[in-house]
Amino acid sequence: MSATHTMARVDVIRVKGGARLSGDVSVGGAKNSALKLMAVALLAEGRSVVANVPRITDVAIMAEVLRRLGCEVSLAGGEATIDVPAEPGSETDYDLVRRLRASICVLGPLLARRGYVRVAHPGGDAIGSRGLDMHVAGLARMGAEISGEHGFVIASAPGGLRGGKIWLDFPSVGATENLLMAAVLAKGVTEIDNAAREPEIVDICDMLTAMGAQITGAGTSTLTVEGVEALKPVRHTTVGDRIVGGTWAFGAAMTRGDVTVHGVQPAYLEIALDKLVSAGAVVEPGDNLFRVRMEDRPKAIDIVTLPYPGFATDLLPMAIGLAAVSAGSSLITENIFDGRFMFVNEMVRLGADIRTDGHHAVVNGRERLSGAPVRATDIRAGAGLVIAGLCADGVTEVGEVHHIDRGYPDFVADLANLGVDVERAVVAEPTFDF
Ligand code: EPU
Repeated sequence: MSATHTMARVDVIRVKGGARLSGDVSVGGAKNSALKLMAVALLAEGRSVVANVPRITDVAIMAEVLRRLGCEVSLAGGEATIDVPAEPGSETDYDLVRRLRASICVLGPLLARRGYVRVAHPGGDAIGSRGLDMHVAGLARMGAEISGEHGFVIASAPGGLRGGKIWLDFPSVGATENLLMAAVLAKGVTEIDNAAREPEIVDICDMLTAMGAQITGAGTSTLTVEGVEALKPVRHTTVGDRIVGGTWAFGAAMTRGDVTVHGVQPAYLEIALDKLVSAGAVVEPGDNLFRVRMEDRPKAIDIVTLPYPGFATDLLPMAIGLAAVSAGSSLITENIFDGRFMFVNEMVRLGADIRTDGHHAVVNGRERLSGAPVRATDIRAGAGLVIAGLCADGVTEVGEVHHIDRGYPDFVADLANLGVDVERAVVAEPTFDF
């Protein structure tokens, strides 16, 4: 009889429930800053160094994006060293963009330097449709002509970009970044209103300013950029990853643990940490570190995600996890991504009592969850499921961990250092043939 299936090898993370996170953990550079800082390097010929880059798959893919644009890139010792040629390439293919949506951030800098760019359209993904309309409208305001064909976004500005006044419909992180990177070399003054205010945007502004860009208003809703002729390469250190830091903060609260997180300014997590205090945690902020400890069962709290400084959408899976083990009912509202609740079904497999309606989730807390095999549907959902598994009876096995690898360097080692019985394993999974 012939075989009806073949076996594929997949990575899983297994955690033993009933754990309590305890100890110190160091957080490296922010993924969502480092990727963009690497694109910022494109704006100046010569060698730029981005330090404190996290060792994650996305950074390796971004390095490949830059190599294909003619840069020499080396990743070693937590640094990305990027040698940018006088005339970088102008095309980024779908095989890379589909694995790293963030590679769309080369649009602005390449348009500014080359006057022409062809980048594969990133399409949608698991957490939502993620349009490009604000990127396109903003660049058009700066004189670019933009079209789309055969799955590519094609932009040109033969006479060069010129400054203009741009109002964003929504403080989009990606659009703000692309427009900033285009504006620094445009002729005249660009004003971006309703700009995103994330610490990662401030980080990009800091690197651009060190390169010679003229920017005011970083961290506010209005960014004013006076274009300059040319920028010079620099060395810049990436800001700490507030989402990874926030993940540990929620983990400490959910497991009634005691964790000191190093490498993240608590001010960048103000609302999230305040929510944990409302849930009953004790939070002690310090300089580039904070401590979170929780003695009793968390109290239910309502959470609404919003652009920074609001509660970060990337911490929503952790918020749902906290609510799932809290005493009482929590109302969690997601305002940024329409597909963010995709992972809720996996949380339900762990015994969580969650009902969703549109962009709201009502979570009735349970004393304990129940360990089960689940799968990560995106980076943050993956981390949230592992942390939720710590509050479950028995073992939780999280599959599709390649998602977690995209955003959490050393996740398993960090969990082990915080006292968790955890392992990463390769398991054989049947694939059924017809
Ligand atoms: N949007 C549009 N049109 C646009 C741009 C955005 O409709 O032209 C919509 C998107 O569809 C989405 C919302 O606006 O619904 C927010 O998009 P935004 O541009 O602010 O986000 P992003 O740049 O695509 C970054 C992070 C996300 C993070 C969000 C919000 C990177 C690589 N990604 O995405 O991070 O959730 O900002 O803070 O920086 C993650 O790290 O896991 C992650 C998803």
